[in-house]
Amino acid sequence: MCGIVGAVSQRNIVPILIEGLKRLEYRGYDSCGVAVHQDGGLRRARSTSRVAELQAQAEQDGIQAGTGIAHTRWATHGAPAVHNAHPHFSAGPGADVAATGRIALVHNGIIENHDELRAELKARGYVFVSQTDTEVIAHLIDQHYSGDLLDAVQQALPRLKGAYAVAVFCRDEPHRVVAAREGSPLVLGVGQEENFVASDAMALAGVTDQIVYLEEGDVVDLQLGRYWISQLDTRTGRYGTVQREVKTVHAHSGAAELGPYRHYMQKEIFEQPVAIANTLDAVTGISPELFGDGAWRIFKEVDSVLILACGTSYYSGSTAKYWLESIAKIPTSVEIASEYRYRDSVPNPRTLVVTISQSGETADTIAALKHARAQGMNHTLTICNVATSAMVRECALAYITRAGAEIGVASTKAFTTQLVGLFLLTLALAQTRGHLSEADEARHLKDLRHLPVAVQAVLALEPQVIAWSEEFARKENALFLGRGLHYPIALEGALKLKEISYIHAEAYPAGELKHGPLALVTAEMPVVTVAPNDALLEKLKSNMQEVRARGGQLYVFADGDTAIESETGLHVIRMPEHYGVLSPILHVVPLQLLAYHTACARGTDVDKPRNLAKSVTVE
Ligand code: M6R
Repeated sequence: MCGIVGAVSQRNIVPILIEGLKRLEYRGYDSCGVAVHQDGGLRRARSTSRVAELQAQAEQDGIQAGTGIAHTRWATHGAPAVHNAHPHFSAGPGADVAATGRIALVHNGIIENHDELRAELKARGYVFVSQTDTEVIAHLIDQHYSGDLLDAVQQALPRLKGAYAVAVFCRDEPHRVVAAREGSPLVLGVGQEENFVASDAMALAGVTDQIVYLEEGDVVDLQLGRYWISQLDTRTGRYGTVQREVKTVHAHSGAAELGPYRHYMQKEIFEQPVAIANTLDAVTGISPELFGDGAWRIFKEVDSVLILACGTSYYSGSTAKYWLESIAKIPTSVEIASEYRYRDSVPNPRTLVVTISQSGETADTIAALKHARAQGMNHTLTICNVATSAMVRECALAYITRAGAEIGVASTKAFTTQLVGLFLLTLALAQTRGHLSEADEARHLKDLRHLPVAVQAVLALEPQVIAWSEEFARKENALFLGRGLHYPIALEGALKLKEISYIHAEAYPAGELKHGPLALVTAEMPVVTVAPNDALLEKLKSNMQEVRARGGQLYVFADGDTAIESETGLHVIRMPEHYGVLSPILHVVPLQLLAYHTACARGTDVDKPRNLAKSVTVE
């Protein structure tokens, strides 16, 4: 989603800003721009193409300076168009901001009261040239400007309702950038006689490793060789200095090599054995302390689990519900974060609130967590892939998955490593509650440690999956079926397919077919079936017969010992082995491959599917 980079230096910072944007590209965007303080005024370049095109445009226009800001925009208010791309300028009431400008601003997030502010600013004579909510912030700061940019920003911010991270500079103060955050992530990068700001430390990799994670409400004033962070004291209505720790962060550049792979998604699917092994690396035995100091006391106290997450992370939580209830015997509910935060629920202070997130920055999940806490549920834990993320900082306990940077928008290795983290959580809760014998612990650990090898064997099925994908590429609809533990896996398979191949796909628990979706089944409808050799297999076979009797085409991923054989209308790929309760971690892999190769066959932009962003930092 949107990305910000800003800098104040004595050297030309345009290459740093552009490189920073390139590192944020994987998050998804549909326009980009850069603005600098040059020749006593504001200059900018904006593009609805890729950052590389913006770079060429900036070079051609001779844009270079020591102070500037840059942005990748994922459209929310106003179409992806150059006039809506950031940075936005303001130049006082009635001024032609296209020709000149005093304030330059970039923004991540959404300003909810932008209509009201726009009307007010228009009445004061400000001319709007975009449909964005962002432009109101530029004009509002301009309205408050009387020679001190920090003062103008501090006066403007309390008028904003919603979420934001902003970076601003002013024509009249050449060596200064002011930035602020409320609800959207922002970091400060501290350099030698130069300072930087970015929405992610990754954008500053190679520039500085001295990072300050700004907190909600922080306003930072960046100048050459100094910075100052302030917060509004709501009692006095004044801003006061706050100290924030400077951390040494060896951020990954995000520019991972593709190696022999065509796309990051394919690479990430094949990295799963290593990602799982890394996630298990520090696990020598099961103990609540795997989740942080004080976990034992919290696990002892809780009597239920509430999982909050979105998208793929929601499906890993939905899988974990089966584990938590059957193995740890603890009542578990799983909620879509964006829904939970807005509905009346019955809070139980003895609930363990578990958020799941690859990025750790998903706005809906963070808001749901805060909503749960506001209702008195203070036992919080996150399963997250980014140790420095807001989610980890917000939660009392954490398990950091070690999937490594996931660049493809479609989540793959983050999902399987989340499942590993959630299974460890299940075992730790089971142990605390007296439901895990030493023999069970040893058996589960052995199975976990064998997982990388088991996943590797599933990856060897790729050629068979490619053969199926050529047929899927000609379809416009698909159904996915699973039962029990594997129903969330069917959901995840359908999400993967629709996300990157744009084929309409829906998933059902197989027993639900006859209650409606069977009406969709024709010879044109591929029905993908997840068929592990578990207690529900015979029930599933009956559901498959219901499809066959109506001429449907079944594509079945069946465990080796299920005795389901290929015949007319029934296509089978045999999974190497049945893996008991951990089977979902294996069965999702061929579904990822099916989505990937179908998308390749249809020629879509696999790593950056249309309309989607990697890190969803707006509501
Ligand atoms: O970073 P998060 O895990 O919180 O992201 C949640 C969803 O936005 C994410 O899983 C999304 O559904 C993926 N694109 C799915 O592949």
